[in-house]
Amino acid sequence: MSEILQTPQKKKVLSCIQPSGMLTLGNYLGALKNWCTMQEEFDCTFAVADLHAITVRQDPTKLRAQIYSTYALLLALGLDPQKNTIFIQSHVPEHACLSWLLSCNTQFGEMSRMTQFKDKSAKHANNVNVGLFSYPVLMAADILLYKPDLVPVGADQKQHLEIARDIAIRFNNLYGDVFTVPDAYIPKTGARVMSLQDPTKKMSKSDENLNSWVAILDSKDDIIRKFKRAVTDSNANVHFCEEQAGISNLITIYSAVTGKSVAEIEKEFSGKGYGEFKIAVGESVADTLAPIKAAYDEIIKDKKALEVLYKQGAEKAEYVARKTYFKAMKKVGFVL
Ligand code: TYM
Repeated sequence: MSEILQTPQKKKVLSCIQPSGMLTLGNYLGALKNWCTMQEEFDCTFAVADLHAITVRQDPTKLRAQIYSTYALLLALGLDPQKNTIFIQSHVPEHACLSWLLSCNTQFGEMSRMTQFKDKSAKHANNVNVGLFSYPVLMAADILLYKPDLVPVGADQKQHLEIARDIAIRFNNLYGDVFTVPDAYIPKTGARVMSLQDPTKKMSKSDENLNSWVAILDSKDDIIRKFKRAVTDSNANVHFCEEQAGISNLITIYSAVTGKSVAEIEKEFSGKGYGEFKIAVGESVADTLAPIKAAYDEIIKDKKALEVLYKQGAEKAEYVARKTYFKAMKKVGFVL
C-alpha cells in the first residue's frame, strides 16, 4: 500500500492596523515587526483597518491619503502580497455585515468595560459616537471571518482580543461551530513602547507633542534628535527598573531593535552617561527604519501598481470572509 504523505496545514494569522496618521515605532515594535517574521511560517492575512479610523472624525482627503500610505508601508516593510493576503478592510463588506450579527450577541455591559473606549471618549468628548463604543465588535468580526489561530498585536489590544474570544465562544455555543477561538500573540519585548516625553503614557501618533513619538518614516536626523530629547531621570545609570521608567523604555526599544538582552545592554553602557546611550538608541532605530523608508518612497510613487495589489488582496480576502459569513448567517437562521 502506498504511503499517503500529508503536509500539515500552516497555522493562520490575522492582524490589522488603523490608517490614522503616521505609523509609529510603537506600531513597528509591538506588531508590524512580528508580522514580517510570521509571514515566513504562517498563512497570514493583514488589513488596513480603515472602517475603524472613522470612529474619530477624519478629514476625507487626508483619510484617503493615509489609507494609500498605510497600504504602501505594509509592502515597504517587506510583507509579500503574493505570499500573504493584504487588503483594505472596507473593500470586504463582510466585515461590517458580520459585525452586526456579532453586535446582537454582545452585551452592553461587556463593551462598557473596554478601557480604550473610556480613554478615547474622554479625549473626544464632543464625539462619543456609537461606532467608538462598538468598535471592539467590528474588530472581533475582522478577526473571526478569517479563523486565525494567532493575532499578533501590542499589549494595548489584549482586552479587545479577549472580547473577540468571548464573542466567538458564545456564538459557537449558541449556534454551533462557526468560529476558531484565536490566541493573542504579544511580543516579549516591545509590546508597550512608551512616549519619549512621558514614559507613563503609551507612544501614540495622536499625541500632540511631536517629540514624544517616532514615525516609521521619520528622517535619521529627526529620530536621533527625538531620542536625544527623551525624558530620563537624574540617576545617569543605564539600568532597567520601575523607578527609571524613561531609561527603561529606551532600554526596551534598544533591546527590541538590536536583539540584545537587558543584561547585555546594562553591561555595554555601564559607567557611560545617558547622552551616549540615547545616541546609540537613536542610531540603531534610524538604521532599522531607513530601508523601510527607502522602499516606501519608491512604492508610494506608483498608485496604479498599489491599486492592482489591493484589489487582488480584497478578492482573496473576500473569498474566505464570505464563506465564514454565510455559514454564520445560516446558523443564525437567515434564508440564503
Ligand atoms: P492600532 O492601529 O492602534 O495599532 C496597530 C498595532 O500596533 C500596536 N501598537 C503598539 N505596540 C506597542 N507599543 C505601542 N506604543 C503601540 N501602539 C500601537 C497595537 O497594539 C496594534 O497591534 N484595533 C486595532 C486595529 C485592528 C485590529 C483588528 C488588530 C482592527 N481590527 C483585528 C488586530 C486584529 C488598533 O487600533 O491598532
